[in-house]
Amino acid sequence: MTSSHSNTRLSPETILIAVAWPYANGHLHAGQIAGAYLPADIYARYHRMLGNHTLMVSGSDSHGTPVTVRAESEGTTPTEVFERFHESFLDTFNRFGISFDLFTTTDTENHAKVTQDIFLTLLERGYLYEAEQTLLYDPQADRFLPDRYVEGTCPHCEYTQARGDQCDDCGRTLDAFELINPRSKLSAASPVPKTTKHHFIKLSAFNDSLTEWVTQQTHWRPAVRNFTLGMLREGLHDRAITRDIDWGISVPLDGYENKRIYVWFEAVIGYLSATKEWAQIEGRPDDWKNWWQNSESRIIYFQGKDNVPFHTLIWPAMLMGYGDLNLPYDVPANQYVTISGSKASTSGNWAIWMPDYLDRYDPDPLRYALTVLMPETSDSDFSWSEYVRRNNDELVARWGNLVNRVLTITRRNFEGRTPATPSSLSQESETLLRRVDDAFEIVGEQINEVQLRRALASTMEIAQGTNQYLEERAPWSAVKNDPEHAGETLHTAINAISGITTLLQPFLPFTCAAAWDFLGHSGEVQEAGWGRTPVAGETLLPEPSPLFRKLDDSIVEEEEAALGT
Ligand code: MF3
Ligand code: ZN
Repeated sequence: MTSSHSNTRLSPETILIAVAWPYANGHLHAGQIAGAYLPADIYARYHRMLGNHTLMVSGSDSHGTPVTVRAESEGTTPTEVFERFHESFLDTFNRFGISFDLFTTTDTENHAKVTQDIFLTLLERGYLYEAEQTLLYDPQADRFLPDRYVEGTCPHCEYTQARGDQCDDCGRTLDAFELINPRSKLSAASPVPKTTKHHFIKLSAFNDSLTEWVTQQTHWRPAVRNFTLGMLREGLHDRAITRDIDWGISVPLDGYENKRIYVWFEAVIGYLSATKEWAQIEGRPDDWKNWWQNSESRIIYFQGKDNVPFHTLIWPAMLMGYGDLNLPYDVPANQYVTISGSKASTSGNWAIWMPDYLDRYDPDPLRYALTVLMPETSDSDFSWSEYVRRNNDELVARWGNLVNRVLTITRRNFEGRTPATPSSLSQESETLLRRVDDAFEIVGEQINEVQLRRALASTMEIAQGTNQYLEERAPWSAVKNDPEHAGETLHTAINAISGITTLLQPFLPFTCAAAWDFLGHSGEVQEAGWGRTPVAGETLLPEPSPLFRKLDDSIVEEEEAALGT
């Protein structure tokens, strides 16, 4: 992660921000937000402010067994399930400020068309082939059983409710054939092995070219690159990419009417099809090429760590086989956020559900708390007591009060306006403003390298430096005996705050929009660009209100009691 490539990049840059497609089978929780959506959003907001050609896309993963299992357990249809949660996702993104240019679904005609084209092209080029496979079959329901539809005893830990894809007790991934006493989830029948025909992708054919390519990606996070190289050293195996199911994208071949394309094969294609859909909506249908076929563009995939091989191996193999499309520039995958010391669990209701959170609290304090503990190199833990402490000690005390105090003293003593521009600045004032100005380069590079914890910490240090500057120059007492000195201090502090507001905007978009207005600026902070917007002397200042609410300690107990119930 050197900064050298930033200096040689052409400006403006073309950047596609490709974010994981969540299964539309449940509400989003804070762990998913910290893993992919929030880092992607911070990154996108920064690059938009820089003036880069930035596009951020994703959508609901509408297919796959997670959706059909939920539909069956509720006695409803997969369509009803994915549409319901797609609405929930859109509402969460809207209320939490996740600023997608397009958040679509995999259940569109456009996506099916793009998927089938890739399928047929890979087939034509010999990268897909048909072969027989023996799978578990439910003779009573007359259906092949996807791994998630088989339950039984885990061969490793003897847990009796293990699923065919994974044991929730010991966490190991499984093959349904390994289960002891397997049971079908569709009927009381014991599953039996049965032979079927499927299409396979020849991943083995890409082992060498992938190894060569991944080896060159020295700017990737070490955990992502090492894990990927480890898999390549073991050697990739060909994988079936069709299934005997009826929910999903049709296989464009005769004799395959009862089969569908495997959900993972088509979900990753969503990045390309969503870009095409966006371009069509914009009325410039060829614009997708700017991101996918221009050699200067960068495509960054924001993911949780469990999705790494799909984005560093399988999707790149598909792209290499298809040809003429850009490979990933980076996959800055995050580790996990645990909640009060335990792994988030949907079935155990051990999670912070975004709709619940947003009904009770403001978005920016959680954006802040999750960025501060973003699991960029190792797992991190969210606790409600830390959430309250950071809100009160950092957002309220360090930043919110700074803004409020400076603007209130200024309005009270300078007739509701910023003090006149000082004829000259003292050393301390110049140093503070230079520090703010220099931060745009430093923080910008940290965001660009997806070191978001560090980028936010750097910015908060400058807010703290501004507090120290004020303590030393005490404008609240100087207004009485040395109004010129006080005027210079407050003018400088307001200008520092203006810069910090822009620096914080990618992280805290809601409160920064408010702070922007309190500074007497017109327009929107994100339109002002990545740099300090000066506040001129004599600017009329509207009455400010607090940017953050102080939170009571009692919510810690309340929220902790609700976990796991
Ligand atoms: N829906 C899957 C998940 O939530 C995969 C998302 S990423 C994509 O883990 F590549 F498939 F889009
Ligand atoms: Zn187990």
